[in-house]
Amino acid sequence: MGIDVKLFAKWRRYLLISAIISILIFIVLSPATQNLIKKKSYRSYIPASKQRPGNPEKGFKYLVEGNYIVSGVPLNIYKLSGLKGENILKRSGDNASLPYYLSAVTAPNGERVVTPNCLHCHAQRLDGEVIIGLGNSTIDFTQDFSSSTRMVGKMISLFYGADSPKSMAYKTLSDRFVTISPQIRTEVRGVNPADNLAYILAQYRDPVSLVWNDKPLDEIKNIPVVPTDVPAWWTMKKKHAMFYTASGRGDFSRLMMASSLLTMKNTKDASHIDKKFPDILAYINQIKAPKWPKKVNSDMVIQGRKLFKSDCTRCHGSYGPGGKYPNYLISLDSIKTDPLLAEQLAGDAKEAIETYNKSWFAKGPFGATLSVESGYVAPPLDGVWATAPYLHNGSVPDLASLLNSTLRPKYWQRSFYSYDYDFNKIGWTYKKHKHNNENNKLIYDTTKPGYGNQGHYYADDFTDDERQALIEYLKTL
Ligand code: HEC
Ligand code: HEC
Repeated sequence: MGIDVKLFAKWRRYLLISAIISILIFIVLSPATQNLIKKKSYRSYIPASKQRPGNPEKGFKYLVEGNYIVSGVPLNIYKLSGLKGENILKRSGDNASLPYYLSAVTAPNGERVVTPNCLHCHAQRLDGEVIIGLGNSTIDFTQDFSSSTRMVGKMISLFYGADSPKSMAYKTLSDRFVTISPQIRTEVRGVNPADNLAYILAQYRDPVSLVWNDKPLDEIKNIPVVPTDVPAWWTMKKKHAMFYTASGRGDFSRLMMASSLLTMKNTKDASHIDKKFPDILAYINQIKAPKWPKKVNSDMVIQGRKLFKSDCTRCHGSYGPGGKYPNYLISLDSIKTDPLLAEQLAGDAKEAIETYNKSWFAKGPFGATLSVESGYVAPPLDGVWATAPYLHNGSVPDLASLLNSTLRPKYWQRSFYSYDYDFNKIGWTYKKHKHNNENNKLIYDTTKPGYGNQGHYYADDFTDDERQALIEYLKTL
């Protein structure tokens, strides 16, 4: 009998232990726990990396007058066009008469040439005012510019001779445009193919010596053009990584100088330009977000701030004194916006990225790399009232429809006129279309691959009044 009790006590212990284990397994495998685990991984923290210090005044000067692109249209020929710009940047000398997005620089052979600067893509007029750092959402990359580029070349030859220093000073940029332009055409006006531009430039240069080859190094990989909006420069100071996918890691100055790949000769040129870019970064880091130019309803702002804190801050951070930006990459499963840009990193662009990560750019104490993680950055929302259209591909015309996905137009067309900004819905005034059967490039067609306007459903459950309050609050950021 005594033995039986002992045995039972022993068995009881085993039974109890196995019951506990079964319950634990049941809890772990239950859908509720699985969801909790998933929820935890809907975001990943983006670690900071060290940046080189620079001088913002020198940076601005280099940005709008510097010769980081050293080939272009000879100044005399440009002047013949009669095009004149208002001197918005208050530049002097040759630059004083050029529009803000062009610079006069000296080519290696001593010729003065006119060439695009970063503000071509990183400044835009809004309600008549040029805002430096506002991504340009009006550029037209739908055309192939190679024949007009060739035509300008013919004109220069006609005036000065095909082997003249002026023709030579134009040739590098012209050759590159002719190679690249047909490969970076977008489906819609207003979006930017900068990522593809970088991938293509990488395929024509030796990664170690950076010397250009007229033929691509390997068989050219046809990477489909994915459209992006251009992010606002004033949010950079908060971000731990560059680009929508947070792929730009390490030294930001090194990453930014990629535009120079258009015309630089070799690593000697690259090293020279590389020393100047920390100044540009210092300039970019002190650009402030433009202030909302009209009145706000302060009661609604207070209500909107509360809603923002409960539903948006976990991803977008907090604003005002003591504000914190959390630097998260949000998984595609959670954000559900068009996945093509993020998926391309590990897909079609894989080789180009591997080449970059083995190249001159990744070397030395100030190396930069492109990292591949699937998702999109939850961006800082400073000055967000000015940055329409919204989402990484610019597929949503205004904040009203960003916060209520049922309002997002499938086919929409804007005038590309800077005064057509809608200060109620906060974004570009647009006309809806029923279809785009004529493939009109002025119509934003969200049915094309990469151009989808789905996702970011986080404000769909709010009432219209709550969304209005949120918008009122967003105006103040
Ligand atoms: C052809 C248009 C174009 C030109 C020219 C251009 N950029 Fe950009 N830039 C872009 C686009 C588009 C992105 C966003 C790409 C992405 O995130 O996938 C970008 C991203 C950036 C970013 C990161 C912003 C962020 O929030 O992640 C910085 C900084 C930047 N560019 C600086 C520069 C500088 C400096 C120059 C001139 C040397 C320059 N860019 C020239 C189009 C351009
Ligand atoms: C789970 C994280 C997350 C939450 C919660 C969230 N967002 Fe976002 N938000 C993102 C991401 C990621 C993007 C960029 C998506 C893209 O470009 O494809 C974004 C983009 C935006 C943009 C567009 C920015 C631009 O310049 O295009 C606005 C505006 C915005 N969110 C507002 C809000 C508001 C308001 C809330 C609260 C109701 C909110 N978000 C909640 C992650 C989040």
